[in-house]
Amino acid sequence: MTDTASAHGTMTALTLRRPDDWHLHLRDGEAMASVVGATAAQFARAIVMPNLKPPVTTVAQALAYRQRILAALPAGSRFEPLMTLYLTDTTDPAAIVDGARDRTVSAVKLYPAGATTNSDAGVTDLRRCTRVFEAMQACGMPLLVHGEVTDPEVDVFDREAVFIDRVLEPLRRDFPALRIVFEHITTREAAQYVAAAGDGIGATITAHHLLYNRNAIFRGGLRPHWYCLPVLKRESHREALVAAAVGGDPRFFLGTDSAPHPARLKEHAAACAGCYTAPHALELYATAFERAGALDRLQGFAADHGADFYRLPRNTGTIVLERHRWTVPDALPFAGDSIVPLAGGETLEWRLRLPTSTA
Ligand code: NCD
Ligand code: ZN
Repeated sequence: MTDTASAHGTMTALTLRRPDDWHLHLRDGEAMASVVGATAAQFARAIVMPNLKPPVTTVAQALAYRQRILAALPAGSRFEPLMTLYLTDTTDPAAIVDGARDRTVSAVKLYPAGATTNSDAGVTDLRRCTRVFEAMQACGMPLLVHGEVTDPEVDVFDREAVFIDRVLEPLRRDFPALRIVFEHITTREAAQYVAAAGDGIGATITAHHLLYNRNAIFRGGLRPHWYCLPVLKRESHREALVAAAVGGDPRFFLGTDSAPHPARLKEHAAACAGCYTAPHALELYATAFERAGALDRLQGFAADHGADFYRLPRNTGTIVLERHRWTVPDALPFAGDSIVPLAGGETLEWRLRLPTSTA
């Protein structure tokens, strides 16, 4: 990682190893075609979430989805989608073993049934997945968890912390060699839990959970574009996430959780959960790291730690972030609809230089 400084000592450009996005929603069809280029411009690889309708539950579906993503990439893109399977009560352990062997499946995603967008087919009882977890332990395939309980009795702001006690801790006790990514963590409890656990558990952190606390959802009116799951938490949690992201622990890494929904379904009586951050993800992360005085830690978080956890080679080639004030567009085209990127209309101080290096 190299810096370029101005005469006044302010950093004006930052060169990083090409980063990866370890948690991404691309959707399918026209919607996917309208967002995939944004991610390919920023990231070399991405872990692609399987919560389509219907979900991606078999290796054949994952391969077909991968082909559709590749076919939709803008000409000249160098981007590798890493595919995941959606864990159900009936996932076949043999498929996991096959998928791991030929690297067609990078991970398996656990959505507690009903936890979030398109999660109705999720697992109802983890005891039904024993043989799958044993197969995953044996081949080292990571289990990605949406870490929220779905119990309607539990306060929405407590669902992640309760998930640790009720689900994650028992799961790790029963399957001590299972490699786990605690996805899009949002609380101090989750950051502390991962920090205190062994090598086999990592966590992704979104840019929006580093930049905003829950006040953003209520600033001058109800702001649906700041509504995602797990929902933004109070400031002390945001501070704990920033400390984890910039702290250098290799088990914390970048996962945007960019989750595109058309503006008309976000600006709705029952607004969909999800923040669309793919087009300006690195700029948002750079903003958060700079505020923490830790731009020197961005490469580890964005480009090194995730690859190491997934046991994949780090990328070659670099990207350059330049200090350049620009305004995030208010809206972008989205499959015949429009989509509002997070922080639309706001100014950012960093901008990715395009095109990326050809190394
Ligand atoms: C995601 C989506 O829309 O697919 N939404 C979100 O708020 N993050 C689902 C998810 O990751 O929970
Ligand atoms: Zn997600």
